[in-house]
Amino acid sequence: PTREIITIQAGQCGNNVGSQFWQQLCLEHGISQDGNLEEFATEGGDRKDVFFYQSDDTRYIPRAILLDLEPRVLHGIQSGPYRNIYNPENFFIGQNGVGAGNNWGAGYAAGEGVQEEIFDMIDREADGSDSLEGFMLLHSIAGGTGSGLGSFLLERMNDRFPKKLIQTYSVFPDMQTTDVVVNPYNSLLSMRRLTQDADSVVVLDNGALSRIAADRLHVRPDSFDNNNFDQTNQLVSTVMSASTTTLRYPGYMHNDLAGIVASLIPTPAATSCSPPIPPLPATASTKPKRKSSCYISILNMIQGEADPTDVHKSLLRIRERRLASFIPWGPASIQVALTKKSPYLQHAHRVSGLMLANHTSVATLFKRVIQQYDRLRKRNAFLEPYKKEAPFADGLGEFDEAKAVVMDLVAEYEAAEREDYLDPGAGAEKEIGA
Ligand code: GTP
Ligand code: MG
Repeated sequence: PTREIITIQAGQCGNNVGSQFWQQLCLEHGISQDGNLEEFATEGGDRKDVFFYQSDDTRYIPRAILLDLEPRVLHGIQSGPYRNIYNPENFFIGQNGVGAGNNWGAGYAAGEGVQEEIFDMIDREADGSDSLEGFMLLHSIAGGTGSGLGSFLLERMNDRFPKKLIQTYSVFPDMQTTDVVVNPYNSLLSMRRLTQDADSVVVLDNGALSRIAADRLHVRPDSFDNNNFDQTNQLVSTVMSASTTTLRYPGYMHNDLAGIVASLIPTPAATSCSPPIPPLPATASTKPKRKSSCYISILNMIQGEADPTDVHKSLLRIRERRLASFIPWGPASIQVALTKKSPYLQHAHRVSGLMLANHTSVATLFKRVIQQYDRLRKRNAFLEPYKKEAPFADGLGEFDEAKAVVMDLVAEYEAAEREDYLDPGAGAEKEIGA
C-alpha cells in the first residue's frame, strides 16, 4: 500500500528548495506544468501517489503546504511556471507580511497566532491520504520563519501526530559568509527542536554546497550575490529526489520512509543503548577532520542499470580493505538500494547514485554553531530583538536550554567514536583484568 508523505516548506529557503524539488518530481514522473500526465508518460512502474494526489479532473497535485510570513517568495511561486500545480488552498502567507526578520523568536512567536490556519491545512491533507506515513519539513535554520515557525510546528506536530515520522531537510548557514549575522542564534535554537522533535534530519550545509558548486560545477562563488541560490538549490533538489527515489520507484527494500530512516539510525532496540544515536544523517556536510571520525551507517541509493553482482563485490572490497572507517562498537552498516531511473529524462550517466551517511564528523559543524553562538552571546550582541519576543519573556533560558541540548548531541557523536560507547567503562575493566 502507498504510504503518503506530506511536505511542509517554510520561509524563503524552504520554498525555494521546495519548488525545485516539485519541478524535479514532475519531470521525473512525466507530469506537466498544469498537473496533467504527459502523453509520453505511459511507462508506469512509478508511484506518484506518495507525493501527489489526483484531483477530480485527474490532475496531479503535490501534497505540499507552502508557508511564509512574508509574501515575496510565495507570490513568486504563484506567478511562476509551476503555479497551477499546487493546491491554492495550501498557501499560507502571514497577514502582516513582514516576515520574521531573521529572528527565530519572532517566527516561533508567530506560530501561536497562525497555527489554527496552518493545522487546518495539515489536517485536510492528512485526511486526504489513505495511509499517511509522515511529513517532510523543508527549511533553513538560520533565518526567522523556516527556523522559528519551523521549530514551533515541529513541536506541535509531534504532539498532534505522535505516530507519524517527521523528516527534515535542514539547510545550515554558510558560516564563512555573514548574510545573517545572528545565524548562530537562530541555528542553535532550531537545532534543539530538530534534535528533540524530528525523527531524521538531513543536514544540508550551505558552505559545503557552495564549495561543491564551485569545485565540481565550476560555478564562481559570488559572495556579493547572496540571493542567487540556483546552483545550490539544484544540488539540494538532486539530493532530495535521489533520496526519495526508492519511495517513488519501489523495490523490495527501503520503499517507505521508515525503512530509510531505520537503515541510517541505530535504534535503541538494535543497540540497546539509551538515549539512541541522535537522528542526524548528514549529507553534503563537512569533510572529516579528526582521525577518529567514522561512519555510523551508510545507505547508498544507486539509480540506473547497475549490475547487482558488481555492487556486492565493491561492498565486499570496502569492508575487507576497510576503505571506510566505521564505528568500533557495531558492524559496518552499508546498505544499498538499487532503483530505476526516470525513463522520461535524459541522463548524462548510465548509473548515478547518492550516499546518505550518518557520520560522526557532522559534530564539527554543530560545534562551530556553538562556538559562533558563544562569541555573540558573550558580547550580548543583537539580543534586544529576541528579548521582545514571547519565548524570551522570562529571560534567555531558551538559549541556555538549546545550548545544553546541542552540546549533548555533540557529546553523543563523540562518544559514538569510542569502543566502549554501548558500555562505558567496560574497556577500562578489561585492561585491569588483562
Ligand atoms: P525570515 O525571512 O527571517 O522571516 O525567515 P526565512 O525562513 O524566510 O529565512 P531564509 O530562508 O531566507 O533563511 C536565511 C538563511 O537561508 C541564510 O543562511 C541564507 O543563506 C539561506 N537561504 C535563503 N534562501 C536560500 C535558498 O534558496 N537556498 C539555500 N540553499 N539557502 C538559502
Ligand atoms: Mg523570509
